[in-house]
Amino acid sequence: MRISECNWPQVEQYLRKDDRAILPLGSTEQHAQLSLSVDSILSERVATEAAEPLGIPVFPVVAYGLTPYFTAYPGSISLRTETYIRLVRDILDGMRAQGFRRILIVNGTQQALTLCAQSLLQTGDRFWIDDPGYVNARAVFTLYGGKPCPIPVTADGMDIDYAFQHFPEGRLAYLTPSHQDPVGGTLPLAQRLRLLTWARDHRQWLIEDDYDSELRYRGKPIPSLQGLDTHGNVIYIGTFSKVLFPALRVAYMVLPDREIFQAFKALKALNDRQTALTDQLILTDFIKEGYFHRHLRKMRAVYSSRLQCLLDELRAHLSDFLSFTDPSAGMHLAAFFKKPMDEERLILAAAARGLVLHGLRDYTIDRYDRPGILLGYASFSEEKIRVAVSALKEVFQAIS
Ligand SMILES: Cc1ncc(COP(=O)(O)O)c(C=O)c1O
Repeated sequence: MRISECNWPQVEQYLRKDDRAILPLGSTEQHAQLSLSVDSILSERVATEAAEPLGIPVFPVVAYGLTPYFTAYPGSISLRTETYIRLVRDILDGMRAQGFRRILIVNGTQQALTLCAQSLLQTGDRFWIDDPGYVNARAVFTLYGGKPCPIPVTADGMDIDYAFQHFPEGRLAYLTPSHQDPVGGTLPLAQRLRLLTWARDHRQWLIEDDYDSELRYRGKPIPSLQGLDTHGNVIYIGTFSKVLFPALRVAYMVLPDREIFQAFKALKALNDRQTALTDQLILTDFIKEGYFHRHLRKMRAVYSSRLQCLLDELRAHLSDFLSFTDPSAGMHLAAFFKKPMDEERLILAAAARGLVLHGLRDYTIDRYDRPGILLGYASFSEEKIRVAVSALKEVFQAIS
C-alpha cells in the first residue's frame, strides 16, 4: 500500500519538516548543557545508544529521545534491534532484512491501534472486527469514525469467507490471527494467504494484533500475516503487556515499509512525542542479558501447567454446566454454557463468592449465540484454581 492511502495531510507536512530536521533546530545549546550535566552518570550508556544511522548527534537519555529537538523519535535503537532479533527468530517467519528500521516503539497496543485509527480511517469507513472480539480495538476505530462490520468467529478464528461475502467494502480489518481474542482459535495458513490476496486486491489494511503468541504451549506457530505479506498491506502489533506486565506500557509496531514507518513515527510524535526512554533501556538490558528468555521459558511452563489444572478441574466438576475450548495458547479460556443461563446473575453470584468472571456478552456486537464466560488461569496458583472451581460449581448449582 502507498502512503497516499493514508488519511494524513497534516502528518505529511510534519513529516517533511521532520525529514529536514536532521540537525538540531535552535536548541543545540540547551541539549549540550543537558549532556554535560548528565554525562558523568550516563555517558557510557549514551555512547552505546548511538542514534539511528542517519548521522544525527547523540543526546543523553534525559533529553527528547536521542534525536534533535524537532525530530520524531521511533524508540530506542537497541530495543528496536532486540525486538527485531526476537521477532525474526521466534515470530515473524520471513520478516525481511533491515526489519528493525520499520519497528516503532509505542505505549502499548492501545496506542498502536489509535495511530492506525487516526491515519487509516476516514469517517464512515467500514472495518472488520471479530464478533465476539477485542472491545478496545472496536472502541478506538469507532471513536475515529469507523463503522464496525461484525464478523463471526469459527474454531479457526475470524470467518473470512463471511467477511468477503458480506462486507467487501471493508477498508481495514483488525484481527488476532495467532490466538483469536477472546474465544481462541488460530487462523490456518491457507486462510492467511487468501486474506492477504484479498487485502492486496481490495486495497485493504490488515491490522495484526499478535498480543500473546509467545505464550503458545502446543503446536508450531504459523507464520504471521506480516511475515507472509508481500504487498505491504499488514501492520503488525506486538506488546510486552502479556509476556511481562501491562503497566509497562511498551509495545511495538512493524510497519510495511520505510515510508509508512516515517509517517507513523511522525504521527506518534504528534500524539505524545515518544515512549519513555528509561523504560526502554531497562527493558533492552533485560532482554540482552538473557532474563527475558528465561522468564518466558519459565512462564510457559508455569502457565501451561495452570491451564492443565484448570481444564482437569472443569472436566471433573463443571462439565454438566460448561463446555470449553482447549486452548493451546494464552492466559485464559472461553467456557460456554451448556444450558440457558442468566449471565449477569451468574457474574453477580460469583462476585459474592470472590470470583471475578468476564461474560462473553461484553465482547459481542450482534452475535450472542454462544453465551459463556472467560476464565483466566495465568495469575493463579494451582491450589487457588482448585478452590475457585469448587466455589464456581456451588454458584452454578445454586442458580440453576
Ligand atoms: C487482543 C488484545 N490485544 C492487546 C492487548 C494488550 O494491550 P496493551 O498492549 O495496550 O496493554 C490485550 C490485553 O488485554 C488484548 O486482549
